[in-house]
Amino acid sequence: MCGIVAYIGHKPAKSLLIEGLKRLEYRGYDSAGIAVLNDQMHMTKTVGRVRVLEEMLDSEPGFSGTLGLAHTRWATHGEVNHTNAHPHSYESPDGNKFVMVHNGIIENYAAVRTYLQEKGHTFISDTDTEALVHLIGELYDGDLETAVQAALREITGAYAIVVICEQEPDTLVVGRQGAPLIVGVGKDEYVVASDSSAIVAHTTQAFTLDDYTVAKLTRDSFRTTTIDNIPITPQVRELEFDLDQIELSGYEHYMAKEIHEQPQALRLCLKGRIDPRKGQIVLGGIADHARELVKAQRIVLLGQGTALHAAMIGEYLMEDLAKIPTEVDFASEFRYRNPIVQDGTVVVAISQSGETADSLAALQEAKQRGALALGVVNVVGSSISRETDAGVYLRVGPEIGVASTKAFLGQVMVCTMLATFIGRRRFLSMDQVSTLLEELQAIPDHIEQVLSYSEQIKDATAKYIERENWLFLGRGYNYPVALEGALKLKEISYIHAEGMPAAEMKHGPIALIDDGMPVVFVATRNSQYDKVMCNIEEVRSRGGHIIAVATEGDEEIRRLAEDVFYVPKVPAPLEPLVTVVPLQLLAYHAAVLRGKDVDKPRNLAKSVTVE
Ligand code: M6R
Repeated sequence: MCGIVAYIGHKPAKSLLIEGLKRLEYRGYDSAGIAVLNDQMHMTKTVGRVRVLEEMLDSEPGFSGTLGLAHTRWATHGEVNHTNAHPHSYESPDGNKFVMVHNGIIENYAAVRTYLQEKGHTFISDTDTEALVHLIGELYDGDLETAVQAALREITGAYAIVVICEQEPDTLVVGRQGAPLIVGVGKDEYVVASDSSAIVAHTTQAFTLDDYTVAKLTRDSFRTTTIDNIPITPQVRELEFDLDQIELSGYEHYMAKEIHEQPQALRLCLKGRIDPRKGQIVLGGIADHARELVKAQRIVLLGQGTALHAAMIGEYLMEDLAKIPTEVDFASEFRYRNPIVQDGTVVVAISQSGETADSLAALQEAKQRGALALGVVNVVGSSISRETDAGVYLRVGPEIGVASTKAFLGQVMVCTMLATFIGRRRFLSMDQVSTLLEELQAIPDHIEQVLSYSEQIKDATAKYIERENWLFLGRGYNYPVALEGALKLKEISYIHAEGMPAAEMKHGPIALIDDGMPVVFVATRNSQYDKVMCNIEEVRSRGGHIIAVATEGDEEIRRLAEDVFYVPKVPAPLEPLVTVVPLQLLAYHAAVLRGKDVDKPRNLAKSVTVE
C-alpha cells in the first residue's frame, strides 16, 4: 500500500529511484512522483503508472542529483489526481523547500491542518501527508532530524516517511510507525524502501526501523533514534532474497510465474521440516512453545483475504488433526468485538506480507489480552513477524503479483505442518503421521501435474468468458477453496463471483442460477462426494453450466459436468493444496482473456497497510 524508495550516495538518484519504483509498483499504482535535490529541489509527479513518470522525466532537465525520494501511491486520503500524488512539499517563508513521501494514514491530520492554517499555512491537496510536511517545515530550526522528531511526536496514526530539504543537501531523514520501511546500507550510500525488492540490486545489508523511530542518513553515516531523540542501535542483517526471485524470468505476468513456481516453493517450505520415515516435524520457530501449543484450549486463526481462506482451512486441519477447538476470524473483526482471550488461547496471524494493518492490530490486541501470539508469515522481518512470540515462515520466496497464489499454498502447507506437529503430540500415531507426511511430500509433484493442464483450463475458461456472474461451491476442506477461487476470479478479472458451501446454495443463492451461469464445483472423491453430486444435479436442472474440479479417474462426474479439471487423489486434509490450483489458473486465464492487468488489478494494492 504505497511504495517508497529514497537514495543518498554518490550515484545519480533518478534512474535508481525509477527502477526502485518499478519494483514497488505492485504496492500501489494510482500515481507516482519523484524529487531529486542537487543545486535545488526538482520534483515531478503524475497520475498513472511509473512508466508515465519515467517518460515525463525524459524531457525534464535538472534531475541529476545524488539525493532523492520517490513514491507510488495507493490513494487513501484524497482522490487520485496530480495534486494528491506524492511527493508533497512545503516552502518556508525563508525559501527552504521541504519534500516528503509517506505511506500510512495520519489520523489527526485535520487538527494539524487547522493549527497550521491558523499560522498562515495554505494547503493545495486533500492529503494527510501535506499536513505533516508543513508541520515539519513549521518546526524546522536549522536541523531536519530534530524537526522530524518533533513533528512525529505531535501526530497519531501510521506512517513510513522520508523527508529532505534544500538547506540540508547531505541529509535524508526517515521515520516509521506501523508501516514498513527498510534502510539498505551500502558503501557510502543508503537505499530506503518499503520492501527489500527495491534494495537488493544495490546492497544486501539492511536494517528495519522500529516503530516510533527516526533515522538520519548522510552519505557516509547514519544515526537512529526514537522520536524522543534517544539513540538506538539497529540490527543490520543480510537480506534473504536475490534479484532472480523478483524477475519475470520469461513469464508474461508475476501471477503466472508464481502459480508455476508453486511446486518448487512448496519444496522449499517443506525442506528440513518433515521426516516421513520418523513421523517427525521440525518447526524451529515454534519449538520453544511446543508445550503451550499442545496444551492449548483454543486456537484462533486470523487473516484477511486469501490469508483468511488459508486460516479457514487451518481451522479444519486443527480440529481434524490436532483436535483443539479452533475458530477463524477476519482480523479486522476480531479486534473490534471485544474478544475473549482465556488461559490457553493461542492466536495465529496468517499473512503473506506480514504488514496487513488489520492482522497486525488484531495480533497486538490478542497479545495484550494474554494470548500466545504466533505468526505464519512470508516476509522475513516484517511487522507481524516482529510482533509475534514465535512463528513459522512460509519460505516460498517473494510474491509480487497482487493476487496471492504461492503464498496461499505456503500458508496452507504451514497450517498442515502445525496441526500435524500438535496432533502428533496429542493423538496421532507415528504411523498416521508418517503416512500423512509422505503424502505431503508428494504434493509438489501433484501440483506439477495439475499445472500441465493449464491449456485445457484456458480453453474451458474461454467458453464462459462473457459471463458476468459465477458461483464457486465446495464442502468441507474444499469450501474455503471455493471462496478462494471466487476471490481470485473477481480480483483480477472483475467478474462477479461468489464462493460458498455447496449446501448453502439451496438456502437462497440458488435463485441466482439461470441458463448458462457457470458454477464451479470442487467435487473431489471424499466423504462428501455424494452430497456434492446432488448439489450438482440441482444446479444442472436449473440450467447452470457445471465446471468441476474432480479426482483423477472419476468418470461419473463427466455425466454432469461440461468441463472437468482433474487433480490427483490425496487425503482429504491435503486436498486444498491441489484443488485450488485449477482455480488459480482459471482466474489467471480469465483475466488475460479479458485483457486485464493481471498483476496490478484496479483499486488494489499488494499489502493493505491501512485499516
Ligand atoms: O499480506 P497478507 O497475506 O496479509 O494480505 C492479505 C490480503 O490482503 C491478501 O491475501 C489479498 O486478499 C490478496 N489480494 C488476495 O489475492
